[in-house]
Amino acid sequence: MRTKLAAGNWKMNGTRASLEQLERIAAVAGNGPSEVLICPPATLIHAAAEVAGPVGIGGQDCHAAGSGAHTGDISAEMLKDAGASYVILGHSERRADHGESDALVRTKCRMAWSAGLKAVVCVGETLEQYEHSNTLDIIGGQLAGSIPDEATGHNLVVAYEPVWAIGTGKVPTVNEIGDVHDFIRARLERRFGAGVGRSVRLLYGGSVKASNATEIFHTSNVDGALVGGASLKADDFVPIIEALNASND
Ligand code: 13P
Repeated sequence: MRTKLAAGNWKMNGTRASLEQLERIAAVAGNGPSEVLICPPATLIHAAAEVAGPVGIGGQDCHAAGSGAHTGDISAEMLKDAGASYVILGHSERRADHGESDALVRTKCRMAWSAGLKAVVCVGETLEQYEHSNTLDIIGGQLAGSIPDEATGHNLVVAYEPVWAIGTGKVPTVNEIGDVHDFIRARLERRFGAGVGRSVRLLYGGSVKASNATEIFHTSNVDGALVGGASLKADDFVPIIEALNASND
């Protein structure tokens, strides 16, 4: 059985005042069977870890190198040392804003694992690729290129985030989400064997909110969500956690 995961990506949002939201999320996070994760900006990781209770804390990126002359960057070891247990890698905003390639994401993933972090590797097609029906080709290529050979159900989570659904309020149909998640599951089983392939959790991300969470969580091979905007406020994120808990029934 895969433990469901409700993950929040705060992106470049949040100051110490936002920790009150995390505290409110932490107050309910232990009430159900789902795992809860918040990935705040790096400046808040240490303080967040101190008030997170049952909520896991993650970084949003790490450098591909372990240390050195990389001004402004953060290593996987630093994230771990600050209190993180996860790191998001290859988010489409990093792929777009920083030109991150699959090969770079793969190197970062290895670095995260060697620091003892779990990786949430993001894949997803652009609107143009979606409109040209290239979604599965793109996802297949990103999976093959971004995930190292040493993946396990313990060290890897895959997040499917269609770029055109992020922050737009547009969401694929549940059939489309199910088709992509089934495809990702099949690819993981083919590459890593059925045991590992079946144990890796697959999250959907892109305009998830309380009003669409339940139907998304009942979709084939969806083990949770990676939530942006609706994870910033406890009033928005707690109902998503509750919908995920209820999907276990
Ligand atoms: P939104 O939930 O704001 O669409 O963001 C999704 C996302 O990019 C999470 O990583």
